[in-house]
Amino acid sequence: MTSVAVVTGASSGIGAATVRRLATEGFHVLAAARRTDRLADLVREVEANGGAATAIGCDVTSDESVAGLAAAAAAAPGPVTLLVNNAGGARGLDPVETGAVGDWQWMYDVNVLGTLRVTQALLPALVSSGAGTIVVVSSTAGFTVYEGGGGYAAAKHAQTAVAGTLRLELCGRPVRVVEIDPGMVRTEEFSLVRFHGDADRADAVYAGVSEPLVADDVADCVAWCATRPQHVNVDRLVVRPLAQAAQHKVHRAG
Ligand SMILES: NC(=O)c1ccc[n+]([C@@H]2O[C@H](COP(=O)([O-])OP(=O)(O)OC[C@H]3O[C@@H](n4cnc5c(N)ncnc54)[C@H](OP(=O)(O)O)[C@@H]3O)[C@@H](O)[C@H]2O)c1
Repeated sequence: MTSVAVVTGASSGIGAATVRRLATEGFHVLAAARRTDRLADLVREVEANGGAATAIGCDVTSDESVAGLAAAAAAAPGPVTLLVNNAGGARGLDPVETGAVGDWQWMYDVNVLGTLRVTQALLPALVSSGAGTIVVVSSTAGFTVYEGGGGYAAAKHAQTAVAGTLRLELCGRPVRVVEIDPGMVRTEEFSLVRFHGDADRADAVYAGVSEPLVADDVADCVAWCATRPQHVNVDRLVVRPLAQAAQHKVHRAG
């Protein structure tokens, strides 16, 4: 029987790439995000390539919406064996001194509580599958801080704490917990969202960096972790572009 994977934040960037990739690995993928028009296009693309996916409108900051995602997963054509908690992002690059409380609340709600809500809603199905995997897409900001990144790093540190705690709590039950921590990934929207739509500031993040990671690179990491034999739990996978040796150590041409 076909295994079902649920991917949140599937309407762009890493989430959309992960949907495409998991479909090629044979999963029926439930692609969840708020922008259902983009999800519908993605599903059409997956199906045109011989894969199977379903678009699910879901706001991970809403209990009711996440309950709808769980209902869709229960009705899916196979056991739910994989959850990819990817929905998230950054807002603002302000110092702690002046950071907007609203930005910090948004980051905590989407990255941390979104992961909590969706994990709680799908955990029963993952356990009953007998071979479940939960992937948490955190960040190198989940273990390193940088100037202006206080709110994002606080949220990603918290998301990392949730992943580590969950792995301890699920020990003895048939669900793996994998944390993936990407460094710089050039996706179409991450930095635009961070800078509230300011394209110049968004582009400057990647200026002179010859090859930042792209969404497919992270999707490849998700697929690799998820397709190891079930007894192999990749606890944490840290992945950066060659040009980024550490959070502050980025080689830029020119
Ligand atoms: N790009 C990077 O450099 C980088 C590095 C490390 C980690 N990450 C992490 O990787 C993940 C994906 O990032 P990305 O670069 O692919 O960013 P992105 O292109 O901005 O994608 C973010 C996704 O999250 C979804 N989302 C936002 N709020 C949501 C909500 N309330 N409910 C449901 N979905 C929501 C968005 O869809 P809708 O707006 O349609 O809902 C979108 O599909 C994030 O967790 C991010 O923190 C990114």
